[in-house]
Amino acid sequence: MNRRILVTSALPYANGPIHLGHLVEYLQTDIWVRFQKLRGHRCIYICADDTHGTAITIRARHEGRTEEDLIAQVKEEHLADFGGFGVAFDNYGSTNSEENRVVCHEIWQALRDADMVVERDVEQLYDVEKETFLADRFVRGTCPNCSAKNQPGDNCGNCGETYTPADLIDPVSTLSGTTPEIRSAKHLFVQIEKLHGFLDGWTQSGTLPQESANYLKGYFLNEPLKDWDISRPGPYFGFEIPDSPGNYWYVWFDAPIGYIGSTKQWCDLHRENFDDWWRSADTEIHHFIGKDIQYFHTLFWPAMLKTAGFTLPTKVHIHGFLTVDGAKMSKSTGTFVRASKYLEHLDPSYLRYYYASKLNSRVEDLDLNLEEFVSRVNSDLVGKVVNLASRSAKFVAETGLSESYPEDGGLFEKFAAAGDGIAASYEAGDFNKAMRAILDLADQANPFVESNAPWELRKEPEKAQQLQDVCTVALNLFRQLAIYLSPVLPDLAEKAGVLLNEPLTHWDQAKTPLTGTPVAKFQHMLQRVDPKKVEAMIEESREEAPDTGATANWDDDDAALKAEPIADEITIDDFAKVDLRVARVIAANEVPEARKLIQLTLSLGGDERRNVFAGLKAAYEPADLVGRLVVMVANLAPRKMKFGVSEGMVIASGPGGEDIYLLSPDGGAKPGQRVH
Ligand code: 2FM
Ligand code: ZN
Repeated sequence: MNRRILVTSALPYANGPIHLGHLVEYLQTDIWVRFQKLRGHRCIYICADDTHGTAITIRARHEGRTEEDLIAQVKEEHLADFGGFGVAFDNYGSTNSEENRVVCHEIWQALRDADMVVERDVEQLYDVEKETFLADRFVRGTCPNCSAKNQPGDNCGNCGETYTPADLIDPVSTLSGTTPEIRSAKHLFVQIEKLHGFLDGWTQSGTLPQESANYLKGYFLNEPLKDWDISRPGPYFGFEIPDSPGNYWYVWFDAPIGYIGSTKQWCDLHRENFDDWWRSADTEIHHFIGKDIQYFHTLFWPAMLKTAGFTLPTKVHIHGFLTVDGAKMSKSTGTFVRASKYLEHLDPSYLRYYYASKLNSRVEDLDLNLEEFVSRVNSDLVGKVVNLASRSAKFVAETGLSESYPEDGGLFEKFAAAGDGIAASYEAGDFNKAMRAILDLADQANPFVESNAPWELRKEPEKAQQLQDVCTVALNLFRQLAIYLSPVLPDLAEKAGVLLNEPLTHWDQAKTPLTGTPVAKFQHMLQRVDPKKVEAMIEESREEAPDTGATANWDDDDAALKAEPIADEITIDDFAKVDLRVARVIAANEVPEARKLIQLTLSLGGDERRNVFAGLKAAYEPADLVGRLVVMVANLAPRKMKFGVSEGMVIASGPGGEDIYLLSPDGGAKPGQRVH
């Protein structure tokens, strides 16, 4: 039976780049969608950028541009990253779209009509300097329960207590560093408790992984569901609530509605009937999400859909988090790898296969073990799958495949019969099981090639027919594997189709052998993973993304001040005499005779250059400095040194030796600009 299936991945926030952690979900979803399409079902993959909320505004302000400008750029970056990994959306929209606004209005009206919205005053912390109410994550302070310092606004990392930001002792706004004040504002709440019975039934009816259903039942559904605060007072980057001027829908209200808004956009573009996709009992809806956002997708979201009469999700597929070498991804160790950085070094097929080989239908974390990544791809894909073709295709490039399918000891039939089991594993999301079954077949195909040794047969002209037959079998078995792997490795499937002169577009092609057709010249299908490239990727991720201090302890001690007390007071005129400028390092060289110095050529823009000797040798590699922006004293009298004349000074902090930290301006600064 031909199914109609709508599939989504969670909408990524438009305030940051895609990284390998995100890709667990997008690759998982893409594989599932490709599998459904290959089986001949009508399946569309819908996604969008999640563009609203305070974090976007903060970044846009920081970069001196509008939110719209920022989200347009991030969307391009996201699409380039997803495209690079072969993630093939049918539509990639934005929550900041007209289509989404229209659906938000519709759902809102339905909630109002169902009398599910109430109004209440909420006390929230307000940053007077930044003129904004503060979301929980923009406040830190002392835990009211255990007195641990520097804790976030919603729960304590030390004792686990949950609270509101207003409960924090000595709260500080992380946006401005000032003490926020408590202000009262009107908020709108959705009373999802009114749908308690429905949600209980829906969450426990096989729509979720069992562990998630149990978790919801144990933690939320055994007591009244709390009202959901879905509005934020302006200024807020989002949609203004039509019947509550000055208030905006909270980002989590319009984010999932983005699934529908993006589908609407796709329907308009492809002249499809929207109701077929979101208001039809004949359509399956599958959401793929991470375990951190299940509350939104399994309680709020079905409540909204139910109230507004949209189709309820058939299934919510929930995955765990990515760890790398057994630990949380970390910028300081270089394991927080951006998608674009990965693509500079490695073939996306490697990661697609590796993730597939580890993914199952349970809510489990997935560990990317870098050593295993290299060995698994090399031994499974290159050693067992691609090798089948590379060891046989060249011997039939002139003759093509045998006219009738040769005797193969039942291998082809066996491979064809394995198709249903493999398909069932894909369908269930047990990709690891599917990969194991496919590799098990490869393990049966390779001995056939080894024992028949086509490279020996070709030396004996009278064995030409036998040679053609052996290669016909090997290539047909390879083709079956390529079909079964094609949801995971679309590139390999495409190359296999080119090699054998017939594109691989349907699962059932694995049921019929290919005979009497030409074979193209063998082109490389997949290179072995070079471990050095993995190392380089990690190394560059470390350099590119130093820890931002998000988890840093802000309880700084006073050692630095004690070591060097603050100097005598000066006037603003004294300060103005020092001409500080932004400069770019355009060359950096060792000074072999000098213990501490690096020779820098600094550009102040145009042709303006300065030669500066800086005591950075113990702290920096010259090559790492080239290209970066620094701050220099540009009007310092030139000083003759043993190795040449130094025409200025770069600004750095730290006691010396390895502990020297160059100061750099934020992105956007230009060489030559004065520092005031
Ligand atoms: O957690 C996140 O990254 C959210 N941007 C996911 C939104 S999913 C959906 F509801 F839009
Ligand atoms: Zn605490």
